Amino acid sequence: MKIDVRLNGRDTAWEAPAGATLLAVLRDGGPNPARMISVKRGCETGDCGACTVLLDGQPVNSCVVAAGRAHGHEVTTLEGLAADPLMISLQKALVDHAGVQCGYCSPGMLISLYHLLRECRAAGVRPDDHAIREALSGNLCRCTGYVKPVAAAAAVAAALEAVQAAAPGKGTVAS
Ligand code: FES
Ligand code: FES
Repeated sequence: MKIDVRLNGRDTAWEAPAGATLLAVLRDGGPNPARMISVKRGCETGDCGACTVLLDGQPVNSCVVAAGRAHGHEVTTLEGLAADPLMISLQKALVDHAGVQCGYCSPGMLISLYHLLRECRAAGVRPDDHAIREALSGNLCRCTGYVKPVAAAAAVAAALEAVQAAAPGKGTVAS
């Protein structure tokens, strides 16, 4: 099956066996040059969030999305956000708040948090802790837990709010 996808801002053509998941194509590459190793293989049942990527800007568990679903669509992995200032801020905050131990869950968490903060920034609002926890509810961590990643995201959200302080329509997300 031929799949034309915009991967991390580049038009890409994949050859994938029928039934292949988006995770398999992104992670393993096969005949494709993808090899997006930030996309982690965890449960493969849609429960842990280790494989989270953005599909047309929305977080999805790539292990339960058929690769063919990406045909004609845009897929973004952590690799594609390496130079994004918001993602850089999130990564730094996660490290500064000791929110990383083995790091296996971190790419998925970062994608979920990036989506939340980008949406909130566009709306001119700051997510509260509950909204951050909601955003992370599909990302399981066996090591650090959730207090530190939530604190890291809250710190970035506060910094964004400070930048947007003069913007109209500012508020706090009611979640
Ligand atoms: S590997 Fe996809 S949700 Fe766990
Ligand atoms: S830091 Fe190890 S699974 Fe989250």
